[in-house]
Amino acid sequence: MAMEAPEPAVDDIDIHTTAGKIADLERRRYEAVHAASAAAVEKQHAKGKMTARERIDALLDPGSFVEFDTYARHRATSFGVDANRPYGDGVVTGHGTIDGRPVAVFSQDFTVMGGSLGEVFGEKITKVMDHALKTGCPVVGINDSGGARIQEGVVALGLYAEIFKRNVHASGVIPQISVVLGPCAGGAVYSPALTDFVIMADQTSHMFITGPDVIKTVTGEEVTFEELGGAHTHNTKSGVAHYQASDENDALEYVKALLAYLPSNNLSDAPAYDVPVDPDEADADLDTLIPDSPNQPYDMHRVIESVLDEGEFLEVQQLFAPNMIVGFGRVEGHSVGVVANQPMQFAGTLDIDASEKAARFVRTCDAFNIPVLTFVDVPGFLPGTDQEWNGIIRRGAKLLYAYAEATVPLVTVITRKAYGGAYDVMGSKHLGADVNLAWPTAQIAVMGAQGAVNILYRRELAAADDPDARRAELVTEYEDTLANPYIAAERGYVDAVIKPSETRGQVVRALRSLREKRRTLPPKKHGNIPL
Ligand code: HXC
Repeated sequence: MAMEAPEPAVDDIDIHTTAGKIADLERRRYEAVHAASAAAVEKQHAKGKMTARERIDALLDPGSFVEFDTYARHRATSFGVDANRPYGDGVVTGHGTIDGRPVAVFSQDFTVMGGSLGEVFGEKITKVMDHALKTGCPVVGINDSGGARIQEGVVALGLYAEIFKRNVHASGVIPQISVVLGPCAGGAVYSPALTDFVIMADQTSHMFITGPDVIKTVTGEEVTFEELGGAHTHNTKSGVAHYQASDENDALEYVKALLAYLPSNNLSDAPAYDVPVDPDEADADLDTLIPDSPNQPYDMHRVIESVLDEGEFLEVQQLFAPNMIVGFGRVEGHSVGVVANQPMQFAGTLDIDASEKAARFVRTCDAFNIPVLTFVDVPGFLPGTDQEWNGIIRRGAKLLYAYAEATVPLVTVITRKAYGGAYDVMGSKHLGADVNLAWPTAQIAVMGAQGAVNILYRRELAAADDPDARRAELVTEYEDTLANPYIAAERGYVDAVIKPSETRGQVVRALRSLREKRRTLPPKKHGNIPL
């Protein structure tokens, strides 16, 4: 960083001269940059972790960082804390650029008082968040902290709530990205939880409300930090995190990749590039992708990649609810958010996790003016008491809500199954999608052929001499008459039935025509999404 300089001699500084005052400033700068003991830095490095400043260096364009409040230090006195008043108070804040675009950043410094948050530490974060909101730039928060500074008591708790309030007020206005690269415990987890994306590094990040010791005391359960709240847990089980990074550099690279698809704020557009596309160019391989048997899976990633520029797809929450795929790409140089069922996982059924994952993503895209491209192959909602009792009714409703309130361009492609309520949910025309396309392999119906025949012809099948042969006849009849895209096409529920190979060209045309889409919802204070 620009501030790195050899340690200035301190003995011969005369602060009553101009030269002395400048030397004194240099000494203070050095002290601020080296606020941690060498032992603490070594301990940090030994864990495979960078220091707060090293992380900022890795994140921002070289030389772009402008620091705020380098000389801030705490005013607390209780419990012996006044013996240690390091410059910066354990957090480095400021702004810089990523790919030339402004971002605000705070980076908690575990090597200084365990990165614990006291009054001044909290004030530094709220100040940089206010700067981001005022100037309309994303804020990246790097978390590595022992939590509320114990010696500062309720004042620390107050500052946490000041941060939470700003997270909420900034939500949907500027992108907020949390990178958790160490401990993040207790109520402190709620700042990352309120942001748009949470990125964790494998083995070195931990998030939990109560730690293993408290859990053992209260419930008797024994669990390690990693099992309880490590990156893998929050990426696979809880859905708290959006990316499991292999290490800190990987985590910071993901931040940069995400920001490249996002606008700086809700009033601007994401960066766009000039990518010439011939909409008549076909991807012939797609015409053989869908197996003849509706029970055979195929990889929806193949479809997604065929539609996106250069096949580049940045998946979000890849490890959570893999029956639903969400992520960012570009079409003709413009950002799009992709939502897709994945037939390779649980046959692409909609369950609670998949619904919430997709709902959150659609709302993120809508908040930041990014069109949503939906690929549908869904046999329905996942049956079972587990799903019902855990609230698939109210939690599945979130996805309906998200699509119906979205005002960004919505383009939907039905590749195969679109059954029952899940047809409605997955970006249907009826919820407000602008362009709905279907492949000839689409089966848009109340349910699949087997289920329908079993319900409608139960008595006849029970009495039949050869029930299997009769069932096969009825299944074929159902598929020929009801499970196809043409009934929906007759009514305009799908705008066109297209060959799979034509998909990218059709999506390009659709998104071009929607570039200037303007739609507003009835004025209200705010909606009441089922939570
Ligand atoms: C003050 C703290 C601190 C804290 C750590 N330190 N946490 N100082 N307040 N909350 C200090 C330590 O005293 C130590 O100081 C230095 O930071 C490094 O800590 P170590 O314990 O040596 O590090 P390590 O062994 O890596 O353990 C990390 C840790 C542990 C697991 C995070 O420090 C820990 O359990 N801390 C307390 C966590 C906690 O319960 N926080 C409150 C959570 S509730 P020296 O001087 O020795 O270097 C909360 C509420 C938020 O935060 C409210 C929001 C609504």
